[in-house]
Amino acid sequence: MLAILSATVAVAAPTAGSDYKPYHNKDKYNDDCDEDWKSIWDNDDWKKAEKLFYFDTEYYVKATPDQVIGTDGVPAPGQPGAKGIFKYGINVAENTICYNITLSGVTGDYFSGAVTATHIHEAAKGKSGPPRLAFPNPKGPDNRRVSYGCLTGPFFVGTNNTAGIDNAAGFHVRQIVANPSGFFTDSHTSTFRAGAVRGQLS
Ligand SMILES: *[C@@H]1O[C@H](CO)[C@@H](O)[C@H](O)[C@H]1NC(C)=O
Ligand SMILES: *[C@@H]1O[C@H](CO)[C@@H](O)[C@H](O)[C@H]1NC(C)=O
Repeated sequence: MLAILSATVAVAAPTAGSDYKPYHNKDKYNDDCDEDWKSIWDNDDWKKAEKLFYFDTEYYVKATPDQVIGTDGVPAPGQPGAKGIFKYGINVAENTICYNITLSGVTGDYFSGAVTATHIHEAAKGKSGPPRLAFPNPKGPDNRRVSYGCLTGPFFVGTNNTAGIDNAAGFHVRQIVANPSGFFTDSHTSTFRAGAVRGQLS
């Protein structure tokens, strides 16, 4: 045992002229620590470096019943008195979207041909368009249904385009960042199939 230990120490020892740098160079170590801490304290660069806690853009959408448009492109009634706050944060490099959705006054069962009934669709204000992202439906009492978390691509919505390909196939969150007014968010219920509430991302 003792022999093995001393052999290990011998191998690890620095040799003159090599580029070996001792890990515990106290001065350098302390300098690095100060530098890291200073940058964490002084600015938000660490958010970009960590990726997970960085959003390129955030959206705060107030969804209302009067903005609902049917699949035929004609205004359709949403649920009277209902409202929704749909908050999104997008990390382009990670193709990730985090969401915190709160609905109030939305009652009854959700209904959609897609995997869930809470979506971001691609269409301008006053237009209809296909779902690109499907979020878990908000749950809870009718005065406060909530859903929050994050989704990372590749995405799937469960409805197909006319070519028989999923409406989320190849979708990347950078498309939203490039043109937020070309996207809206909504929740569909069995009574308000076109949407109980809807709002544009910008
Ligand atoms: C979600 O947003 C609501 C308000 O819109 C807030 O009260 C709640 O704390 C948020 N939840 C999370 C997990 O951030
Ligand atoms: C979408 O198309 C795939 C095949 O491309 C098919 O398996 C699936 O059932 C279709 N989904 C819907 C909702 O029509």
